[in-house]
Amino acid sequence: MSILRIRTIGDPVLRTPAQEVTQFDDALAALVRDMLETMYAVGGVGLAAPQVGVGLRVFTWGIDGDEGHVINPQLSMGEEPQEGGEGCLSVPGYSFPLRRGERAEVTGYDWDGNEIAFSATGWFARCMQHEYDHLNGFLYV
Ligand code: NI
Repeated sequence: MSILRIRTIGDPVLRTPAQEVTQFDDALAALVRDMLETMYAVGGVGLAAPQVGVGLRVFTWGIDGDEGHVINPQLSMGEEPQEGGEGCLSVPGYSFPLRRGERAEVTGYDWDGNEIAFSATGWFARCMQHEYDHLNGFLYV
């Protein structure tokens, strides 16, 4: 495994919509492992592939001991909002308040290509929305 370089604001990869993953191979699993290692190394709770310069629809998280990854995610948010603040590894040194959905339903695939689906609430739901935005080329600022 290896620690990947975090791309920061100004890098075009962060503003480019990521591509769907079509190959569920060893390289994809290695990318996820490297992203998890990198995320922990820099003290992040979530990391999207464009943040390490890879334009694929993949993100990882590690929150309160719950670790995971999702490939080609789809999100749907409930109507209930949540208020709060968030930061981003790609915009170092800042955090801003941002209204998000209190709940998010997440579907997608694991690195083996198995379908996954789960519900997220609160801070976890905020993280899912933040990382999903990265895949569409949006920074939260
Ligand atoms: Ni971010």
